[in-house]
Amino acid sequence: AATAEPAPEEPKQAPGPTCVGDTVTCPEGARLQAKVEGRYVTVLRLDGKLVCIDAICFHAGGPLGIGDIEEVNGRKCIVCPWHFYKIDVESGDKYYQTMEFKEGKMQAGEWKSNGVRQRTHKAWEEGGKIYVQLTTYERRPSHADYVESDGYAFDEKCGDRCLN
Ligand code: FES
Repeated sequence: AATAEPAPEEPKQAPGPTCVGDTVTCPEGARLQAKVEGRYVTVLRLDGKLVCIDAICFHAGGPLGIGDIEEVNGRKCIVCPWHFYKIDVESGDKYYQTMEFKEGKMQAGEWKSNGVRQRTHKAWEEGGKIYVQLTTYERRPSHADYVESDGYAFDEKCGDRCLN
């Protein structure tokens, strides 16, 4: 009998959205810490908008999800409590402040982006519940899709810092 060629490996089936809580538990300015498909994420409501970002900091596994909110260039950022990196909660960009030589001395200049370092996800509400749809399903995303925070996203040791 002829032997069949093995079928090429299918990409992992995308799980549907996950309910992470009731709308009432996340009023303006509040946040929810959740584990979705094993991934630690933080949902925040800022200016009436729900956003979702990986809870563990791409830099060294810090508890980004519990960081303060600050504005940089008119963008809402979450500030990692460990080394104070400022991450855009909507885009995942990491910002840094340039230094300029002005009037005979070094002075803080404008804020610029180092690029997207922290993965963001989709969050919305429906029927009194808040849902999250992860933007990646793989534990080890392909190189092309890799965002630095993917490397920490499933780390129990790091993630529990945000949940506790
Ligand atoms: Fe270093 Fe977050 S762990 S800034």
